[in-house]
Amino acid sequence: MKNSKRLLILAVVLFSLVLVSCGGSSDTPAESADSASVVKVSNDPYIETLSDEARDCVECHAKETHGIVEDWDDSRHATENVSCIDCHEVDDDSPMALKNVNGHGDVKVSVSLLVPPSVCEECHEDEVSEFHASGHQRAALQVESKDAMQALINHHEGRDHPEFGGASEETGCMVCHGVRFDVDSTGRPSPETYPSSGIGNVYPNGEVGNCVVCHTRHKFNIAEARKPEACASCHIGPDHPDLEIYENSKHGQIFATEGEEWKWDSAPGEWEPGDYRAPTCATCHMSGIGDLEVTHNVSERLYWNLWAKVSKVRSDPDPMSMWTGDGEAGRAKMEQVCSECHTSTLTEGFFASGDKAVNLYNVAYWEPIEAMRVELAEAGLLKENPWNDEFMVLHYHIWHHDGRRARQGAMMGGPDWAHWHGFFMLQQKLYRATSIYEQRMESGQIEEDYFAGAMQ
Ligand code: HEC
Ligand code: HEC
Ligand code: HEC
Ligand code: HEC
Ligand code: HEC
Ligand code: HEC
Ligand code: HEC
Ligand code: HEC
Repeated sequence: MKNSKRLLILAVVLFSLVLVSCGGSSDTPAESADSASVVKVSNDPYIETLSDEARDCVECHAKETHGIVEDWDDSRHATENVSCIDCHEVDDDSPMALKNVNGHGDVKVSVSLLVPPSVCEECHEDEVSEFHASGHQRAALQVESKDAMQALINHHEGRDHPEFGGASEETGCMVCHGVRFDVDSTGRPSPETYPSSGIGNVYPNGEVGNCVVCHTRHKFNIAEARKPEACASCHIGPDHPDLEIYENSKHGQIFATEGEEWKWDSAPGEWEPGDYRAPTCATCHMSGIGDLEVTHNVSERLYWNLWAKVSKVRSDPDPMSMWTGDGEAGRAKMEQVCSECHTSTLTEGFFASGDKAVNLYNVAYWEPIEAMRVELAEAGLLKENPWNDEFMVLHYHIWHHDGRRARQGAMMGGPDWAHWHGFFMLQQKLYRATSIYEQRMESGQIEEDYFAGAMQ
C-alpha cells in the first residue's frame, strides 16, 4: 500500500540486475527454519528479491494459507514483485488494521484483511476510475436507499425474524450487489457483512468497489476475466439471464465448441480476433478490440437501459443515475466491436430488430400494464401487500422478469429468451393481468382467489 510506482519500477530494475548477475538461474525455494513442515513457495527467483518483511508474509502464509500463496505465486504480481505487504499493509491507526491475528505475534507490520480499490489505484489508476464511473459503482448503494427493496428483503423474505431475518440478504442480494462492511474494534468485518463477493462493496472509509470478482484473488488473471464465467456468478437467473442468453447465441455456440483452444492471455489491448473467433461478454463490454480501448466502465458501450421498467436511451454521466452513460456514443462503440468481424449490413440489421423489440416492450407491455396499475390504485383496488396481490405480481414479472428477458435476449442474439421466456410469456401475463383489472373495475372488488400461474 505504501509502495509508489517509482519504487516498484526501481525494484523491477534491481531485480533485473540481480537476474543478470546470477545468470537468471537462481532456483532456491524460500524455506523457513522448520524444514519438516516447509511448503514449497516457489522455484522462481523473485522470492529472493522481496524485502525481509515481505518475504516473511509469503513464507509463513505458504504454511498457514497454502492456496493463497500458490495463487499469488502464479500471478503477474509475483513476477512484478507486488506481494502480500503491498496490498495488505495499512497505517497502524487505520480502523481496518487487524489487532490480535492468531499467529501474527512477531509480525511488526499492521495488516488489513479488507483491501479497497484505492490500493489497486496506486498502480492501476485508469481501471479504478473507470469502475467508479460505471453502473457497477451503484450496485450496493442503490439497494440501501430503496424502501420497497428493504421491505422485500427484511419483511417479506426475512419474515422480520429477529435472529435469522438477515439470511436472505446475506446469502442473496449482497453476494451479487455488495455490502457496507462494518469493522469491530479488532479491525475485523462482522460476520453479517463478511465475506461478500458483491461488486459494489462499501468499505469503512466510504470507498466503493470490488476488484476481485472478475479476476479473482490472488491470481488476478486477465484470462479468467475475459471468459463469460467471470460475469456468470451475477448475470444469471430469471431477471437478467445474460449468461443463458449468451449460451443461446451463435457466439456462445462457438465459444462452447472451441473456446478451450483460444488464446486468452494476450496483453491488454492486444487481444484480437484470431486469438478468438467469437466475442465473449468482456469482448463486447470491456476489452480493447481494433481501435477501441479497454474499459472498466461496463456502461460505456450501452445505448438503452434494459433493466428499468421502461427502457430509455442513456443520457447521464452520473453513475448513480439509472440512465448513466451516453447512448449514442455507446452504440457507436458497440458497433465498432461488431465491425471487427461483421459488415455494417449485418450489424445495422441486427440492431434495427433489437431496438424494435425494446420499443415493442415499452409501448405494448409496459405502457398498458402501468396504466392499469394507476387506475386500480386510484380506485383503491390494489391490496396493501403487493407480493400477495396477483395483479401486482404480474406487473412486477412483466417488467422485472419476462420484460428484461425479452429486451436483453433481443439485444444479445438469444432467440429462446427473446421469444419463449420473453414475448410469449409477456402476452400470457398481460392477458391475465387485463382480465383481473377488468374484473376489479367492473365489480369494484378485489378477487379472493389467487392464480398460481403468476408465479412462473
Ligand atoms: C509467522 C507466520 C505469519 C506471518 C509472518 C504473517 N502471517 Fe498473516 N496470518 C498468519 C496466521 C496464522 C493467520 C490466521 C489464519 C486464520 O485465522 O486462519 C494470518 C492471517 C492473516 C490475514 C487475515 C486475517 C483474518 O482475520 O482473516 C492477513 C490479511 C494476513 N495474515 C496478512 C499477512 C501479511 C500481509 C503479512 C506480512 C506483513 C503476514 N500476514 C505475515 C500467519 C502469519
Ligand atoms: C494485488 C493485491 C493483493 C496481493 C498482492 C495480496 N492480496 Fe490478499 N487479498 C487481496 C484482496 C483484494 C482481498 C479481498 C479482501 C476484500 O474482500 O476486501 C484479499 C484477501 C486476503 C485474505 C483473506 C481472504 C481469505 O480467503 O481468507 C488473506 C488471508 C490474504 N489476502 C492474504 C494474502 C497473502 C498471504 C498474500 C501474499 C501471498 C496476499 N494476500 C497478497 C489483495 C491482495
Ligand atoms: C504496487 C503496485 C500494484 C498494486 C498495489 C496492484 N497491482 Fe496489479 N499489477 C501491477 C503490475 C506491475 C502488473 C503487471 C503490469 C500491468 O499489467 O500493468 C499488474 C497486473 C495486474 C493485472 C493483470 C494481470 C495479467 O494477467 O496480466 C490485474 C488484473 C491486476 N494487476 C489487478 C490488481 C488489483 C485488482 C489490485 C488491487 C487489489 C492490484 N492489481 C494491485 C502492480 C500492482
Ligand atoms: C459480483 C457480481 C457481478 C459480476 C461478477 C459482474 N457484474 Fe455486472 N452487474 C452486477 C450488478 C449487481 C449490476 C447492477 C448494478 C446496479 O445498477 O445496481 C451489474 C450491472 C452491469 C451492467 C449494466 C450497468 C448499467 O449501467 O446499468 C453491465 C453492462 C454489466 N454489469 C456487465 C458485466 C460484465 C460484462 C461482467 C463480466 C465481465 C460483469 N458485469 C460482472 C453484478 C456483477
Ligand atoms: C445473482 C446475483 C443477484 C442477486 C442475488 C440479486 N441481484 Fe439485483 N441485480 C443483479 C444484476 C446482475 C443486475 C443488473 C441487471 C441488468 O443490468 O440488466 C441487478 C439489478 C438490480 C436492480 C436494478 C438496478 C438499479 O440500479 O436500480 C435492483 C434495484 C436490484 N438488482 C436489487 C436487488 C435486491 C434488493 C436483491 C435481493 C432481494 C437482488 N437485487 C438480488 C444481480 C443480482
Ligand atoms: C466486471 C469485471 C471486472 C471487474 C469488476 C474488474 N475488472 Fe479488471 N479486467 C477485467 C477484464 C475483462 C480485463 C481484461 C480486458 C482485456 O481484454 O484486455 C481486466 C483487466 C484488468 C487489468 C489489466 C490491464 C487492463 O486494463 O486491461 C488490470 C490492471 C485490472 N483489470 C485491474 C482492475 C481493478 C483495479 C479493478 C477494480 C476497480 C478491476 N480490474 C475490476 C474485468 C474486470
Ligand atoms: C456480441 C456482443 C455481446 C456479448 C457477447 C454480450 N453482450 Fe451484453 N449486451 C450487448 C448489447 C449490444 C447490449 C445492448 C446494448 C444497448 O443498450 O444497445 C447488451 C446488454 C447487456 C446488459 C444490459 C444492460 C442494461 O441496460 O440492463 C447486460 C447486463 C449485459 N449485456 C451483460 C452481458 C454479459 C454478462 C454477457 C456474457 C454472458 C454479455 N453481456 C455478452 C452485447 C453483448
Ligand atoms: C470476434 C468476431 C466477432 C465479433 C466481435 C462479433 N461477432 Fe457476431 N459472429 C461471429 C461469428 C464467427 C459468427 C458465426 C457466423 C455463422 O453463424 O456462420 C457470428 C454470428 C453472429 C450472428 C448470427 C447471425 C449470423 O450471421 O450467423 C449475429 C446476429 C451476430 N453475430 C451479431 C453480432 C453483433 C451485433 C456483434 C457486435 C455487438 C457481433 N456479432 C460481434 C463473430 C463475431
